[in-house]
Amino acid sequence: MTTDYDPIAEQYKRSKLQRWREHVEAFTLMKLVGDLAGKAVVDVACGEGFYTRLLRRRGAAKVTGLDLSAKMIELARNSEAREPLGIDYIVGDGREMNFGPVYDLAAAAYFLNYAHDCAELDAMCSGIARCLKPGGRFVTVNSNPACDFSSAPSYRKYGFETSVVGALREEAPITWTFYLDDGPFQIENYYLSVQTHETALRAAGFREIRWHRPLLSPQAEAADGRNYWSDLLDHPPLTFIECST
Ligand SMILES: C[S@@+](CC[C@H](N)C(=O)[O-])C[C@H]1O[C@@H](n2cnc3c(N)ncnc32)[C@H](O)[C@@H]1O
Repeated sequence: MTTDYDPIAEQYKRSKLQRWREHVEAFTLMKLVGDLAGKAVVDVACGEGFYTRLLRRRGAAKVTGLDLSAKMIELARNSEAREPLGIDYIVGDGREMNFGPVYDLAAAAYFLNYAHDCAELDAMCSGIARCLKPGGRFVTVNSNPACDFSSAPSYRKYGFETSVVGALREEAPITWTFYLDDGPFQIENYYLSVQTHETALRAAGFREIRWHRPLLSPQAEAADGRNYWSDLLDHPPLTFIECST
């Protein structure tokens, strides 16, 4: 699995400063996350802690961030050392989480799209379900299986592009290229259909599975007009899922 974020950890962190991250990705995800007061939250595949910090700042009582990449966790811990928020960061595999059913909410940004195949997706969904209390929620932003990446528009003006070689089929690699001031870098994730996701989530014990389109923050709409954002909003390469145990 291409989960080696160690060499690109610092670049990926900088890609989170692109405007679409705040005004579309984070705006929508945090709206779905809702009220966090008193909640215990795990951020699965937390990377350098972009959402982990946000979840804590938005009022979660206890926040744990877990990621496979030691370098990503090092960056997250550096941020925690600079500005302590009381977050625990752990190097670990989201497929093997065994905290017990202690969290009210599991959040994940771009985790499920690292499943190469349905067996791996099953393991990810089960790992998440295992750490939730009964009635706990899972909220995620992910590469969008309903997007036809072979005919998607260019997202270059937002700072990134997506591409797939040939027609979209189960397990096809999707490449995301991010453009930073000092040059581009690429990450790869994998296509699995909406149906495959629904099956894996249900098999793990999730119900009330809802898919959401990205939303635009009122600030960005006022500043740029909706038209500027239409390629991203009308042909979204990202999607949001919420469900509960
Ligand atoms: C695209 S990054 C997203 C990081 C962070 N969630 C964010 O939005 O800034 C994907 C992350 O998934 C992590 N990852 C991939 N597979 C994983 C697994 N099985 N368990 C835990 N983390 C994983 C990678 O190390 C990487 O940090």
